[in-house]
Amino acid sequence: MNLTTTYLGFELAHPVVPSASPLTEHIDTIRQLEDAGAPAIVLHSLFEEQIIHESLELHHYSEYGTESFAEALSYLPELDDYKLSTETYLELIRQAKDAIGVPIIASLNGSTPGGWTQYARQMEEAGSDGLELNIYYVAADHAISGGEVERMYLDVLTAVRETVSIPIAVKLSPFISSLANFAKELEAGGANGLVLFNRFYQPDVDLETLEVVPNLQLSRSDEMRLPLRWISILCGNVACDLAASTGVHTAQDALKYLMVGADVTMTTSALLQKGPGHIRTLVDGITTWMEENEYESVEQLKGSMSREKVSDPAQFERANYMKVLQSLREYP
Ligand SMILES: Cc1cc2nc3c(=O)[nH]c(=O)nc-3n(C[C@H](O)[C@H](O)[C@H](O)COP(=O)(O)O)c2cc1C
Repeated sequence: MNLTTTYLGFELAHPVVPSASPLTEHIDTIRQLEDAGAPAIVLHSLFEEQIIHESLELHHYSEYGTESFAEALSYLPELDDYKLSTETYLELIRQAKDAIGVPIIASLNGSTPGGWTQYARQMEEAGSDGLELNIYYVAADHAISGGEVERMYLDVLTAVRETVSIPIAVKLSPFISSLANFAKELEAGGANGLVLFNRFYQPDVDLETLEVVPNLQLSRSDEMRLPLRWISILCGNVACDLAASTGVHTAQDALKYLMVGADVTMTTSALLQKGPGHIRTLVDGITTWMEENEYESVEQLKGSMSREKVSDPAQFERANYMKVLQSLREYP
């Protein structure tokens, strides 16, 4: 059974990659992930806010007494508590390169073009083999149009592309109005891969305390439908590699993503719940299913059920919507 796949130019032993999470924040758990068979590791993110905070702080101390930056610092709450400095992050890349043999993909997370994107070069110099650029922006400003938001994403990508020569994957939000077209623009802007999707964390309202509270819930398998549709639509139409992120808990979930066109499947929630060893369970499950269904390689099944390949492409589009609603008409 040939489980190899390529992603960002790396030949990987199989298509189950741990995505950015607390498990990829420490060298010990990174080692455990490699021991469990991870074919590449995406490190947790270094955040734009963290970088800006640190440089403001440096400036503040160099001008100590002037108070000129005290106010600016106060706009970035709670970052003092954030464990990792930029130097710690670069050290993690160096340690990981020394300790493990699979590709390391550092992650830079931000939303606005600016000097922070220059950190991509330091990540490359520290030894990162690739870069995941997570552009996380909540478009809450009524004055900014969708086109402007997308221009901003492209500007961030351009700034990073000019800074590094390692491959870049853009981790995207699903909230893009014309994703197929935007994917082509990201490709033209130098993206080598697209990660679909970033999972937005939605705040909740506490009815007892009447406070807005952060609410981090791990994913479920059925959340994979949105990326599944978009990977099926993009497969064969963009040159970028496609990584599926969200809802990979079982081998069947991973197989479905590969079938619609993913080059790799990424997983976090399942590994946080079941531990790094779950990578092996997923890979074994993929192998068993492929044997039972007489597939010889991951390449053979990749994209075999993309929108272009299925007999009824409308299943991935609007026509399916009407059929589904029709099917529930008889509900009492
Ligand atoms: C606790 C936690 C921390 C995460 N940290 C990051 C991060 O630093 N950078 C990032 O791009 N994604 C981060 N993610 C998102 C995951 O990489 C992944 O895209 C998301 O959880 C969906 O995949 P899943 O359904 O397998 O969990 C985090 C997710 C969780 C649950």
